[in-house]
Parts: sequence; structure tokens; C-alpha cells
Amino acid sequence: MSKTAELAQHIHDLNHAYYCDVATVPDEEYDGLVSQLQALENQAGEFLPEASPTLKFVMNQQEAFPSRKHSPPMLSLGNLYSEQELLEWDESLRKILGTPALSYTCELKIDGLAISLIYEKGRLATAVTRGDGTEGDEVTANLRTIPELPVTLPEPLNLEVRGEVFLSKDAFERLNQRRAAENEPLFRNPRNTAAGTLRTLDTSEGRRRRLGVFVYACVSGIEAARHSAALDRLAELGFPVNPERHCVASIADALEYCRKREPLLAELPYAIDGVVLKVDSYSTQKQLGVTAKSPRWATAYKFSTEQAESRIRGVELGVGRTGVITPIALVDPVELNGTMVGRATLYNFEQVRSLRLHLGDLVTLEKGGEIIPKIVSVAPS
Ligand code: IVH
Repeated sequence: MSKTAELAQHIHDLNHAYYCDVATVPDEEYDGLVSQLQALENQAGEFLPEASPTLKFVMNQQEAFPSRKHSPPMLSLGNLYSEQELLEWDESLRKILGTPALSYTCELKIDGLAISLIYEKGRLATAVTRGDGTEGDEVTANLRTIPELPVTLPEPLNLEVRGEVFLSKDAFERLNQRRAAENEPLFRNPRNTAAGTLRTLDTSEGRRRRLGVFVYACVSGIEAARHSAALDRLAELGFPVNPERHCVASIADALEYCRKREPLLAELPYAIDGVVLKVDSYSTQKQLGVTAKSPRWATAYKFSTEQAESRIRGVELGVGRTGVITPIALVDPVELNGTMVGRATLYNFEQVRSLRLHLGDLVTLEKGGEIIPKIVSVAPS
């Protein structure tokens, strides 16, 4: 084996170990090996078309993300904002079906990007973004960098599952810390950063950013009568299925689930923006059917993002989970989503500058997925 091929093999082995979530070499060492391989390939003019882990650097954007059609299309969900609306939704379904009560699977609504994952004979063959719902971009290489996602299943199944790709709060903070240290502009929010990461050509950068994924539906390939049973089976096969899912016997219990989950918003290591309720029985789902855009048998219950106005009275510096320094505004206490709020995060110094904030400014606060509310806008002063 030539030195180039040997090095390429070594990098492949490291990638494989990484996918399997076993300890590998530090990122700097990995990046060093890839640069070394690139240099060797350039020097020797030796080309390893199929095999080379450096191949991503020579592909152009279009070749890298070819379009793929979804079958069936990737729908979205209708949104409801109050318990009353949920009760009415349940009532309308029961009326159609003529049943006294419906069982639902309740899940967290992860604030990320939808993805379709196709497994052929037990191997992850294709990962496609939602796109416009009818067709999306193939981003398989970047999905393979997610350690929790099995590349190979324990059984040679052909199946299609769908889920949500996201960047955890910690991964986002670490990434921005690194960018600050390298004098790179900081990213605004985890969701957009995850979207950008899915479309990076440099998979070692994608790997380093540490995307996550939760699988929330099975389109084909699993024998089950109920959605909750299909999710359990997916978890058994090694898929990352969110552990907060819960099957309930009535809408009353679903409301209870929603009430208990809303306070979790701030504590979870990833962003959620509500709860998804799905009729559990597949045959009942089929009976209810879909409208042009969304299924009748599922809905999103969005947690409210109330806004309130207040004045900035001071600024203090907080230390985030990963040690990054965050400026925090001290504001006149106001009520937001039922609690009194006296502090609001300013994320970073760039944000302070771009909002042109001054002491005494009138600002609008919003409770997002974070523990401390954020400042979303400032009245000109
Ligand atoms: S089920 C038929 N379950 O929310 C629709 N969606 O518009 C299937 N999402 O595009 C969606 N967490 O990307 C479902 N537990 C969950 C979800 C979830 C997040 C996203 C999904 C979808 C959007 C709804």
C-alpha cells in the first residue's frame, strides 16, 4: 500500500471509530492528518477517487448536495396555542370518528430541521433535508458525522425514518467560543447554525460542530399497529428516539403532559418550541387522513413566547456552562409568561453593539428556550 493510501485508510478508520462514538484522536490531530493527506495527494498527483477522505474539498456545491424527491412528501404540522384549542381539535377528531376518547403519543417538538433517512439492507444510504417538502438536498455525508445515528443497523432492514437535526445549546456555545477565539463572526442561533452545518462541504468541520438528531417517525419498513410501538422498535434498533415521549389515553392526559413539559424548556440541553400530539393508532391516522399541507391526525402545541417591555438599568457578566462570558442586562422587573423577570441575556458583545444598547433604553424581552429571557428589540433613543 502506498503511503498516501495508508494515510487515507487511517483517516477512514478514525472516522469509523468516531461514528461509533469510541474515543479517537483530538480534533487538531485529526485535522493535521487530513492536511497531511491533502499535501501528499497534491504532491504525488495520486488520486483516490472513491476512497479519499479529502474528496469533499474538490466537490462543488451542486455535486455535493443533489436533489432528491420525497415519497411520501414531508408535511408540516398545524399549530395550536392554547389548551382550549387542543380540546376543540380532539373533539373535532372524535366527531369524525365517533369515538369517546383517542390515544395520543405526546412528544417534544425539537426546534431544528427535518430530515429523511433511508436505510438499505440495514445501512444508512441517503439522508435528505426537507427542502420544500416535495424534494430536498442529499446531505448524507454530514449526517454520518452524528455519533448517535446508527450507520449500520443490527438487522438488514430497508426502512425510511424521519426526524429532526439540531445543535445542542452546549455545542452552539462551544462553537461560538471557538469562533470568538479565532476572530470569526459569531453565529446567532442554534437552528440556523444547524442548517448551515448540514450544508457544509467540509465534513470534518461538520463533525467538529457536533450536530444531534432525534428520530420521530417511521415512514416504511417497521411492522407496527401504533406509532408509539414503532418508536419503541426504532429505539431498540439503536435510533436516537427522544426519551420524553409518552403515550396517553385521552386529551386530558395530553394536556397534563403539555403542562409538565413547558417548564422543561429552559432545562433541556436542546431547544424545543412546543409539544407534538399524534393519534397513536395507524389505522385511525389513515381514517383521518391529511390535508394539503399537514396531517389531520397530528398537531403542534406551541409554547407561548410572550413579550414584555422594560428599561435597561445595568449590565452584569455571567459565565455560561462552557465558561464563555455572557453580558446580561438588568432590567426593571416585568411579568413574562407568569414569572417576574429582572434579567435578560445579551448573548455576546457583538449583539450589544448591533442593537446599539444604552443604559435607560426601552427594550422588548421574550422568553425563548433559555433560562434567562432575551432582548429582541430596542426602541430608538
Ligand atoms: S412529526 C407530518 N414530531 O416540526 C408531520 N415533527 O411543522 C410530521 N418537528 O417539519 C412531523 N419535532 O421538522 C414531528 N416530535 C416531532 C417533531 C417534529 C420537531 C418538526 C418537524 C416538522 C415541524 C412541524
